[in-house]
Amino acid sequence: MRVLVTGGAGYIGSHMVRTLELGGHHVVVVDDLSSGHADAVPKSVPLVRADVRDREAVTHAIRTHKLTALFHFASRIQVGESVVHPRLYYRDNLAAGVALLDIALDAGIHELILSSTAAVYGNPIRTPIDEDHPRAPVNPYGATKLALEGMLEAYAAAYDFKYAALRYFNAAGADTGLGERHDPETHLIPLVLDAASGARPSLRVFGDDYATPDGTCVRDYIHVSDLAAAHLAALDYLTRGGPSGAFNLGTGKGQSVREVIACVEKVTGKKVPTVMGPRRAGDPPELVASPEKAKRVLGWEAKRSSLEEIVSDAWRARG
Ligand code: UFG
Repeated sequence: MRVLVTGGAGYIGSHMVRTLELGGHHVVVVDDLSSGHADAVPKSVPLVRADVRDREAVTHAIRTHKLTALFHFASRIQVGESVVHPRLYYRDNLAAGVALLDIALDAGIHELILSSTAAVYGNPIRTPIDEDHPRAPVNPYGATKLALEGMLEAYAAAYDFKYAALRYFNAAGADTGLGERHDPETHLIPLVLDAASGARPSLRVFGDDYATPDGTCVRDYIHVSDLAAAHLAALDYLTRGGPSGAFNLGTGKGQSVREVIACVEKVTGKKVPTVMGPRRAGDPPELVASPEKAKRVLGWEAKRSSLEEIVSDAWRARG
């Protein structure tokens, strides 16, 4: 296939680019490098340094390389920031996504795989969360992704266009040399590794008074390489004639903050200094996916997402 990857210089996007290349696909990256890293894109892959709203640059990339599918990773990703600065999310996630799809449809794209999120579900009323769970986001990050999903649904009904919205749970892990490099870093696993290595003095645990087995929040961590494999499976499914739809990407198993800390100590052989802090606003106690639909329909399931493998790979990627 001939594929455009927006955000291909970012954490998940750059893993996708490697996976596509290994699979023999022709890949072009559009990334404005506002948070991505040019060195995360292999030299063999054209990198167009542009905003996804840049009609001329995006159209040129699609037409010149005869691209027909689009993986849209470029996005802001911080729940907390979205609450404090919602404009950034309505502008850079929602409005930019609308503009990109307009450009892409005009230029000949027929398939889109969207990086969506478990945040579209809001505070879960049942767990594990399946795709029919009510969608009631509790922050602008989730709300803007949900609005994008609504746009895709309407476009797929009206135009010669299909999509898969992939609702990631907690992306983590790395392939060698391609770790998480967010600035600022807010995600648990890189922060625990920082505390283990001494790069940060300690990890602040955001609350241990939740109604979970050990009092800390439970999340469904999914290896970034498994996420990339799921995108390929989704593209394959669409090109084989599968109807558009949304899919949860997770393992079906949750791990608590304390379990993550214990796993990091085991893998690194280092003590993780922790301090107990208050709850972080907006954190649901437990977010665990039902990955059954992705398994049944896409034929995909997580293979590298044991917590130990995720933590080991993330640790190794730091060199
Ligand atoms: N946590 C801490 N201390 C920290 C950082 C995190 O205790 O310093 C805890 C959080 O409270 C939470 C867990 O670790 O319970 C995981 O937190 P992350 O920030 O790593 O991830 P989130 O579950 O908050 O968010 C992730 C993605 C979002 C996505 C969301 C889906 O980062 O983009 O899952 O609900 F929207």
